[in-house]
Amino acid sequence: MQAISLTDFILEDQKTNLHARGNLTRILNDIAESGKIIGLHLKKAGLVDILGTTGDINTSSDEVKKIDVFSNNLLIKTLTIGEQVATIASEELENPIELGTGDYVVFMDPLDGSANTDANIPVGTIFSIYHKSDSILQPGRKQVAAGYILYGTSDILVYTCGHGVNGFTLDPSIGTFLLSHSDMKIPEDGDIYSVNEANSPQWDDTLIRFIESLKTSGKRARYIGSMVADVHRTLIKGGLFMYPNDNKNTTGKLRLMYEVNPMAFLVEQAGGRVISHETTNPLDAVPSSVHEKSPVILGSKSLVENFIHFEK
Ligand code: AHG
Ligand code: MN
Ligand code: MN
Repeated sequence: MQAISLTDFILEDQKTNLHARGNLTRILNDIAESGKIIGLHLKKAGLVDILGTTGDINTSSDEVKKIDVFSNNLLIKTLTIGEQVATIASEELENPIELGTGDYVVFMDPLDGSANTDANIPVGTIFSIYHKSDSILQPGRKQVAAGYILYGTSDILVYTCGHGVNGFTLDPSIGTFLLSHSDMKIPEDGDIYSVNEANSPQWDDTLIRFIESLKTSGKRARYIGSMVADVHRTLIKGGLFMYPNDNKNTTGKLRLMYEVNPMAFLVEQAGGRVISHETTNPLDAVPSSVHEKSPVILGSKSLVENFIHFEK
């Protein structure tokens, strides 16, 4: 495959958007550069002081990991220097920070799945980008770009600007993300379902019977516990990823603005389907707060539709 770098690809991509002035390109490159550094630290996690917790609790009452803080601070510094971003909202910030300049708003989960870091299990960075508007709380449909960096067996950056999804694998020998997954499309069907079945005592009866039907139809269960890794596998192999609401987490666990909506944008752009519950699409939700949660069922179109039509 011809070695097309992420930077070259984004510059080409930018030409298809007549209004582009290179500012979004700068943001995407800034996130990619931060991802390279986060990935390097993760590769040495046992040797540098980024494992373990800081002793703080974040807005979602999760224990804050040192790598969460490192990643959050690095991304904020890089995006501030880039001067393209007016506001940053982050899982690790109680309130968004105003950077003053810039025409864009960035929502981010600086390190997704961070509880897995100490066990050397893949984790990721998720980003969601909007044009600045009178409120930062815009429906997911208004995203101008979204993507993730998965720090796994290799580091891969996957993003969309609304005309397709492309993946770039980091070549560590030259420190460059190179196009490796061109025009990603999620398989129409798939034999993997991914959900935390420890929550099943809180599920409603329909969901319990639906998951049982997946088992009896021979589906395989895979659950990594890092959304980025579970969603990336679903994009590549097809299947279903679910974090549904239940009678304890009545709005699910995952956050709308920096987990559900960026992944929803990507999965739809890759030809998949996403709902939050019933047939509601999270991308249409009008957000009321930065850290609000949303249920999510996403993946191969035929499987999500099987869930929607499953006898209630
Ligand atoms: P984060 O580390 O950013 O808080 O995200 C963790 C999320 C997500 O990555 C994953 O899908 C989910 O938590 C797993 O939750 P459970 O452990 O409840 O299954
Ligand atoms: Mn997360
Ligand atoms: Mn996180």
